[in-house]
Amino acid sequence: MPIDQPKPRFAPAIRRMHWLIFSLVLLAYVFINLFELFAKGSPTRANVLGAHYLVGLAVLLLILPRLALRLRGGRPPVTPAPPRWSELLGKLTHVALYAFLLVQPILGVITLQIEGKPVALFGMTLLPSFVSQPDRALGHRFEDIHSTLGTVFYYVIALHILAALWHHFGRRDDTLKRMV
Ligand code: HEM
Ligand code: HEM
Repeated sequence: MPIDQPKPRFAPAIRRMHWLIFSLVLLAYVFINLFELFAKGSPTRANVLGAHYLVGLAVLLLILPRLALRLRGGRPPVTPAPPRWSELLGKLTHVALYAFLLVQPILGVITLQIEGKPVALFGMTLLPSFVSQPDRALGHRFEDIHSTLGTVFYYVIALHILAALWHHFGRRDDTLKRMV
């Protein structure tokens, strides 16, 4: 009788990175949706915004190490193998997600820099503004792109999560098990 081989999974560091970055992105969305509940000029509003910046910066710091780990660790095959269209759609979505994780925080940093605003939390400056002449109009243009991209990725992330659930509960393959 054949002995069951352990199923291949993503390397532990890649799995940890996936769920850590997922939590940080989730928090970034939670904080940005919460800050407007607090009065303009209040310390709580500033701190909730500061928390958005901080978790966003953490994503920026982690994304290159994550990509390096992934390039070294590879991607284990899915069993049973999904149809070609689904593999292609998955690849496209993953490339888009990686690009988002890199570009979105950079756009946020550029916005703050151009507007001459530091990243601060509880009165502590974590990233000063290096721009001597702020340009609010240009800053708003970058902020608009950052906001639009943030909105578009609600849908891309939702598609990604639905796909993971479809693989697990619909196709009953090991796509999700490889990442937990
Ligand atoms: C993965 C990381 C990030 C995500 C998912 C994200 C997402 C978002 C979203 C969805 C909005 C728009 C909210 C709205 O228009 O209702 C927003 C606003 C903003 N984000 Fe981010 N962001 C991230 C990282 C950052 C970083 C690193 C910074 C700066 C250090 C930043 C600075 C800003 C600023 C300045 C705004 C405008 C806030 C305002 O309305 O005053 N973001 N972000
Ligand atoms: C902010 C939310 C998320 C982001 C940005 C994100 C990002 C990513 C990225 C970039 C990959 C590609 C990994 C590779 O290099 O092959 C991936 C894979 C994966 N993610 Fe997520 N993810 C998120 C949330 C989730 C959630 C909530 C689930 C589960 C319900 C999930 C399940 C998976 C699975 C199963 C894979 C492996 C897919 C495969 O190899 O075909 N992700 N994720």
